[in-house]
This record gives sequence, structure tokens and C-alpha cells, in this order.
Amino acid sequence: MIAKTPPMGFNTWNTFGKDINEQMIKESADAIVANKLLEAGYEYLVIDDCWSEKERDPVTKKIIPDRTKFPNGMKAVSDYVHSKGLKFGMYSCAGLRTCADYPGSFDHEYLDAETFAEYGCDFLKYDFCFKPESANGPHLYRRMGMALRACGREILFSACNWGCDNVPEWIRSAGAHMWRSTGDIFDNFESFKNIALSQAGKLGYSAPYCFNDMDMLTVGMYGNGNVGSAGCNDAEYRTQFALWCLFGSPLMLGCDVRNMNDVTKKLVTNKRLLKINQDPEARPAFLAGKHPWYDGRNVYMKLLSTGEFALGVFNLTETNGIVPMMFHEIGLPSDAGYSVELIDAFSGETVGIFRDYHNPEIEKHDCAVYIAKLVKD
Ligand code: GAL
Repeated sequence: MIAKTPPMGFNTWNTFGKDINEQMIKESADAIVANKLLEAGYEYLVIDDCWSEKERDPVTKKIIPDRTKFPNGMKAVSDYVHSKGLKFGMYSCAGLRTCADYPGSFDHEYLDAETFAEYGCDFLKYDFCFKPESANGPHLYRRMGMALRACGREILFSACNWGCDNVPEWIRSAGAHMWRSTGDIFDNFESFKNIALSQAGKLGYSAPYCFNDMDMLTVGMYGNGNVGSAGCNDAEYRTQFALWCLFGSPLMLGCDVRNMNDVTKKLVTNKRLLKINQDPEARPAFLAGKHPWYDGRNVYMKLLSTGEFALGVFNLTETNGIVPMMFHEIGLPSDAGYSVELIDAFSGETVGIFRDYHNPEIEKHDCAVYIAKLVKD
């Protein structure tokens, strides 16, 4: 059984786009292990779009790996990735062509699932470009879901239809383990802020074995690479990672894992943040208060299976200032006889014990995240 908790790994798209090859995949696998990312839980290495030749084999109809990028074929790449203790992921599309115009799996689902199984694939991201108008989106995901179940290998099914067709309502029944709820992320603050704010109403559909995927992280990209855009600063990356953790999204790194700085490594391997993301009960976060004057000064709360709870305090606005965290919003009336003890999730330090409220000053685009528990007065 896979995906009991949000899947974690690395995906090539955000940084590398079409510039993928056997060498950089091997180097990335090495780096994931050397940087202790595997130890932290990042176990899937996923090759996204642009890995194949432009046309199927005319006789076998199979998709063929690009002969220049992957001269030894895909099994050799997969074997190397497995030899490092990682799991191997690949990409295809429910339509006739992939988004970057390579062969899609439409009408070839069973053959392609068998091919992925032959490669030793453990994860399939399944996109939505070039879907024929006359074809039914949900049906196509069901078809690949069935094909993967028949292929003789346990393959995590990562649906990517960008939130179309009311996807959270049916995707779990199609066998997917994660489902993209939005369009593509770009490496700038507005992009991830809008993705996060668009999640209201969708978080309750995310649960063990099938998670709401808010897209690959741009943390640590600093504007470089395929979805580089303007880039973010460290406060913004902290905020992005905290939102993905609190909202229980799969955590797929999108930066160049071979060249991560220490700030990025420390952030994405933070044990308390990962504990929030990976909590086995996978309860959804909820909006536990927002500033009356500013949209985007928000507090989110997530109950944890340990009896603790996580509180995230976000300043998504353009001005520095307090973010009011009123404990009546989380179900603790005044004079109940309890206060809230807060531990800073980033540093691990105890912040203090607070009665009724705690209103931290948060700089624009930054956040604070706490592991909290109730203590008797
Ligand atoms: C998009 C998808 C991206 C990436 C890209 C590849 O549709 O949302 O995550 O996979 O296609 O072309």
C-alpha cells in the first residue's frame, strides 16, 4: 500500500524542463542521498515531460525513450535510481500528446502501463494536455488507473488535470494517490500565494492514500530554471514550504538538488514541518482567523495525531505587521482554564505559554509556524 501520507520526492520539471538526461538524473539521485533528503523522506525521483522520442515505435507502438538523452534506455536509469534506495517515477499524459508535444497515452493506456512496469517504474504522473474534445476526462483517468492496477507493479498514480472537472469529487475512486488541484506553479510569490489561497474548500478531500497536490515546490530555485520567473527570497520560500506542509500537499522538490544551499536543505528537512505534513491522520488545515482589515493575514490550524496541533501564521500581504491569533477561533474560550504552549517549528525553541491570544509581528510574505498544545492554567 502506497501514499499513506503525502508522497515526497523530486521532479525534474521546475528546474530542468526538457533539459533532462541520464547523467543529470544519476547526479540528482546521488545528491538526494548525499544531502540526506532520502533520509528525510524524499523517496521518489520523477522524470517529467520530454523524456521520449517524438513518435511511437511504428511496429510495437511503444513509446521510446529519447536515444540521445537516455542512450542506455530507461531500465538502466531506473536500476541506478533503485540502487540508491530511491523509487523511480515517470510521466505521461491522458491526451494524444503531452504538454510539450511528445506521444501521450490516449488509447494506449494498457501498453504504456506495461512499458512503465518493464522500466521498473514506481510512480506515474499523468497530465491532461491534448485530450480530445469528445473524450471524457474522468473516464481517461479511470482507464489509466485500471491499466496501472493490471500492469503487475505497484505504481503510484499521480493525476495532473489541473483541478478540472471537479477532480476531488471522483479522482479517489479512479485509483489516484495524488491529484493536482491547480494550474502550474511559477517561482514567484504571487504564484504560490494564489495556489494556496485557492485551496479553501478543497482541503477536506485530501486524505490517506489520495492527496491534494498543490504542485511541485519552487523552494530553493531563486529564479533559475524552467519555471524560474522572478524567484523568491528565503522568507517567501519558508512561507511556501510551510503552506504546503500545513495543507498536507505532496512535497515534490523542484529545485536543482545537486546545488542546494544550506538554507534550502535545512528548510526542506525540518523535522517539525515534515511532522505536520506527514501526520498519519492527515486532517485538513482550516482557516482559524484572518485579519479584519487585510486579506491574507491568515492563521491556519491543523490537528495532529499526537494530541498537539500546528498553527501557521501567515502575512501574505504587502505590509509588515501583526497577525492576530485569537484562541477562541481554535475552540478555546476565555476562562476555559487552559492556555496554549507554542514551540517555533522552524527553530524548535519554546516561544511561551499564552492565554486567549498571541499576535506575532510578521514581516510581509513571511510566516511563523508553531507546534502547539493545550496546558492547564
Ligand atoms: C503541465 C503540468 C506541469 C508539467 C508540464 C510538462 O501540464 O502541469 O507540471 O508536467 O505539463 O509539459
